[in-house]
Amino acid sequence: MTSEAVMKLSPIVPVIALESEEDALPLAKALLEGGINIMEITLRTPAGLKAIEVISKALPQMHVGAGTVLNASDFKDAVDHGAAFVFSPGISEELMQTSWELDVALIPGVATASEVMLAKNNGFEHCKLFPATLAGGFEILKAFGGPFPSMRFCPTGGVNLSNINDFLSLENVLCAGGSWIVPKQCMKEKDFKQITTLCIEAMQTIKGKI
Ligand code: 3PG
Repeated sequence: MTSEAVMKLSPIVPVIALESEEDALPLAKALLEGGINIMEITLRTPAGLKAIEVISKALPQMHVGAGTVLNASDFKDAVDHGAAFVFSPGISEELMQTSWELDVALIPGVATASEVMLAKNNGFEHCKLFPATLAGGFEILKAFGGPFPSMRFCPTGGVNLSNINDFLSLENVLCAGGSWIVPKQCMKEKDFKQITTLCIEAMQTIKGKI
């Protein structure tokens, strides 16, 4: 799957840090029921890799990738566990090299023009803007549209329902990611129904990119 295809799956990319691998399937099902067919499961928790494996085996309609992939070893572990794509908060030669070697899409994180140039000059035209609101949010993405008209972005970090439509209104934004769509409290209470409700509400609020 190409990084362009990944970024066109859903306007909302849930960024997830799972505490328990048992929550993986119920959460994936709740998101699908709410109309979201992509998950970025971060490697921030020990349960992350196993969750990727469980979902990729049991629910082919859910596109599951890894997030917080920081180096080649993370990248390989994620792919070995079934990740179909990889998100990183940053960009490095090592990550780009591993993406080519494994032929698995990498969506690297960028926050400056120099990092966009590094991505673009290596053929990575689909990037995450991270941390989106701190890096300049809507305004920096609009500015990147000048020198880098072919680049497409997925802002994450500080994105939520109150600003997502601003981001999605930009031509160079294909989707936006965030943890808000899977609130910690819901996970603590295992309230997966509420997560479905939040997804449905969010998808109704989003205009333009659906
Ligand atoms: C990420 O890795 O994309 C971010 O940690 C998500 O940021 P958020 O928690 O502000 O949505």
